[in-house]
Amino acid sequence: MFERPRGTNDWGPEDMAKRRFVESAFVRTADAFGFREIQTPIFESLDLFAAKSGPGVVEELYAFKDKGGRDVALRPEFTASILRFYVAELRSLPKPVKVYCYGPAFRYEEPQKGRYREFGQVDAEIIGGATLASDAEALALAIGTMRAIGLKKVRARIGHIGMLRAYLPFAPADQAKVLHALDKKNVAMLDDELARLQRPDLAEPLKRLIALHGDAAILGQAQEVLGGKGGEAFDYLRALAKQLEAYGTPSSDYEFDMGVVRGLDYYTGMVFELDSASLGAEKQVGGGGAYTLAEVFGGEPVFQTGFALGVDRLVMSAEAEGVLGPSRGIDAYVVPIGEAMRPRAVEILTTLRAAGLRADIDLVGRGPSKNLDYANAVRARYAVLVGERELKAEKVSLRNMASGEQREVPVGILAEEIRRA
Ligand code: HAM
Repeated sequence: MFERPRGTNDWGPEDMAKRRFVESAFVRTADAFGFREIQTPIFESLDLFAAKSGPGVVEELYAFKDKGGRDVALRPEFTASILRFYVAELRSLPKPVKVYCYGPAFRYEEPQKGRYREFGQVDAEIIGGATLASDAEALALAIGTMRAIGLKKVRARIGHIGMLRAYLPFAPADQAKVLHALDKKNVAMLDDELARLQRPDLAEPLKRLIALHGDAAILGQAQEVLGGKGGEAFDYLRALAKQLEAYGTPSSDYEFDMGVVRGLDYYTGMVFELDSASLGAEKQVGGGGAYTLAEVFGGEPVFQTGFALGVDRLVMSAEAEGVLGPSRGIDAYVVPIGEAMRPRAVEILTTLRAAGLRADIDLVGRGPSKNLDYANAVRARYAVLVGERELKAEKVSLRNMASGEQREVPVGILAEEIRRA
């Protein structure tokens, strides 16, 4: 009757179990890193995103007028909202402010596998820390989240957009256009922009520069391409590698890549992207870096860095790498043998739930054998058969669904027995 809007998804129980697994790996890791959770609105005033997100993102905004005639937009990401919140309120907190959040984001893109109009992100930001220490912490959390999920085929590509910005002798708006072409690796667009800006001579070194990737040796080559410029940025990346080593990040987890430009306009320093080798065209599972937004929103200059990972793509790479086990079933499925047993069965069910077990009960009034089929289907570890004869002795039959073994257990120790197993 009704169709789902293009680019959106319905997520069933198995999908949601995977999404929760990925999100909770992030939450656990971010908590362990001392980040704290916040939440911002799903829609904001259009201006917030128009201010500094850049041409790529603005074209894709879900923007509309609300009933009061105000221009609003669904969030395409979290960073702008978090920095608005920071400037308005969070800046009174002791620094650095380390926050994370997660939820849906919206971009009007051409949908394909791994690219949707509604998608999930997890996001972390560090505001007001020292530059190098904060960038390293952000990167370590991004990589640490991958590890917590169990992903192996993920690599960070680390670049430096400050170096590129310093090299491009253009006003910010023109710089943004050139960077957009570089980000899209669109050679025709790049040539056109540089011709328009009367600097076609920059095309060749820029193309050579963004093709450079590998270990620290490419940093020297990049500096040569820039005619010796950008030294500070390259030294910075070398120092960053040292910090990552201290975090225990093996050098096989990342490479330097001068072609990391990022699709958002607010980046000013180190930038990075995370790719999963197990995905196809949409293989970028995350990205981030150092940026300047607080100032744009009227705050004092502070160092800002962070990243976001795409939940949909993390789930897809976890599936591809086979690191997701089957979702957890329930601990116990309670079967009243005959409707007369239901009140006692519900009491027993309630004690199991109160003991922290995942427990369910027959709500259909099926016979025992149909109920055991159902218990299997919902992957219950145990079936608890509540029959009149056993109950007279304050006992129930506890059936191990995997082995089929069944024995009588006193009601008083039932929860303990199930938990112990
Ligand atoms: P981003 O690179 O635009 O960065 O998005 C981060 C991740 O979100 C992408 O790598 C991708 O996995 C996922 N993603 C983006 N668009 C889609 C889509 N249409 N469908 C599915 N997944 C998608 C940011 O959003 C920045 N706010 C990151 C950041 C935080 N930088 C600093 N702090």
